[in-house]
Amino acid sequence: MNDKPGSALITGGNGNLGRLVADGLLAKGQHVITFDVPGTESENLHDNETSLTGDIRDVDALKGILADHRPGTIYHLASLLSGSSEEDLLATWDINANASFHLLNLAHETGVGRFFFASTVATYGAVDSDPMPEDFPQWPENMYGATKVAVERMGIYFKARHSLDFRCLRFPLVVSPSAPQGAVSAFPSHAFKAASRGETFRFPVAEATGMSTLFLDDAIDAIITFCAADPIKLSRPAYNLHGYHLSAGMVADAARRRFPNFDCSFDPIEAVEHLIAGWPDRIDDQAARRDWGWQPRFDFEKSADRICDLLREEEGMT
Ligand SMILES: NC(=O)c1ccc[n+]([C@@H]2O[C@H](COP(=O)([O-])OP(=O)(O)OC[C@H]3O[C@@H](n4cnc5c(N)ncnc54)[C@H](O)[C@@H]3O)[C@@H](O)[C@H]2O)c1
Repeated sequence: MNDKPGSALITGGNGNLGRLVADGLLAKGQHVITFDVPGTESENLHDNETSLTGDIRDVDALKGILADHRPGTIYHLASLLSGSSEEDLLATWDINANASFHLLNLAHETGVGRFFFASTVATYGAVDSDPMPEDFPQWPENMYGATKVAVERMGIYFKARHSLDFRCLRFPLVVSPSAPQGAVSAFPSHAFKAASRGETFRFPVAEATGMSTLFLDDAIDAIITFCAADPIKLSRPAYNLHGYHLSAGMVADAARRRFPNFDCSFDPIEAVEHLIAGWPDRIDDQAARRDWGWQPRFDFEKSADRICDLLREEEGMT
C-alpha cells in the first residue's frame, strides 16, 4: 500500500496533456499516480511516479486506487475526444460522463481534497458573439460537448452540496506537436506534422475557418497554476481560456514558411467545418486572468516556431 495523501492521481495520465501534467507535477516534487488504458505506459518511470492501467469505467478498480493511494488531488483527463465520441455514443456516455460521476462520487466519499476536470469550448454550441462572453449559455451540438457539460454540472453539484473543491478549465483547440487522432480540432497539429515529414495535407475545413486556440505548454501551465491557486481567490468553479485566434490558412502559411515544400489543400468535411466554424474565434477569459493570474506565453508565431522545432527534432532534422 502506498499511503501518500499529498499525491496526485492523473486519469488519462499517459495522454497528450496528461503526460505533461505528470512531468510538471513531478518537477515540483509531487508524487504522481497515472492511470490510463493498458499499453500506453511510458517506458521510463520517474522515481516518484506510480503507473496504473485499467479502464476508467471499472468502478471497483477506481475504488481500490483511491483506497490504496489516497490522492490529495485528482486531475481527471481521461476522455474520448470530439471525433471518436461520435463513433459509439453509449461508450462515450459511459467513459466521459458515467465514469466521471463515479469518480466524483468516490472523491467525495473518500475525502479527496481537490478535483480538476478538463472541459472544453465544445460545451458551447454555435457562438455568434465575438469575443464569446464569460457566461455564454452552454448548449453543445456534439456528443463530446454534451458529456463534458454534464460533468461540469455534476462537479458543481458535488462542490455546492458536498464541499468538494471542484475546479474546471474549458480549453479551446490545444495546438501541439503530438495531438491525438481522436479530436476534430487536431488538424493544425497534424498539418505541421505532415509539413515536417514532407507529406501533403488536406485541411478538413475552409481556408478562412478557425477558432480560439492555445499552445500546449500554456495549457499545462494553466492546469498546474489553477490547481495550486488559493481557493479564496477563485470566484467561480469553471474558467474559460483563450490564447489566440488561428485559421487553417494561417497554419498553411506558417507551415510553408518553415517547410517551403509543404503541399496542402482545403477540402472541408461538412461536420468538421460546421463545428469549427461555430466555435468562437476569441473568448473572454478575464476571470481567469483576474482571479489566478492566467497569462498565456505563446502567440501563434511563437507556437508555430516551437512546434516546428520539436517536430524537426523528432524527425532528426537538427
Ligand atoms: N487537446 C485538446 O485540444 C483539448 C481541448 C479541450 C479539452 N481537452 C481535454 O483534455 C483532456 C486530455 O486531452 P488530450 O489532448 O491529452 O487527449 P488524449 O486522447 O491524448 O488523452 C486522453 C487519455 O484518456 C485515456 N482514456 C480514454 N479512454 C479511457 C478509458 N476508458 N479508461 C482509461 N483511460 C482512458 C486515453 O488513453 C488518453 O491517454 C481530455 O479530457 C480532453 O477532453 C483537450
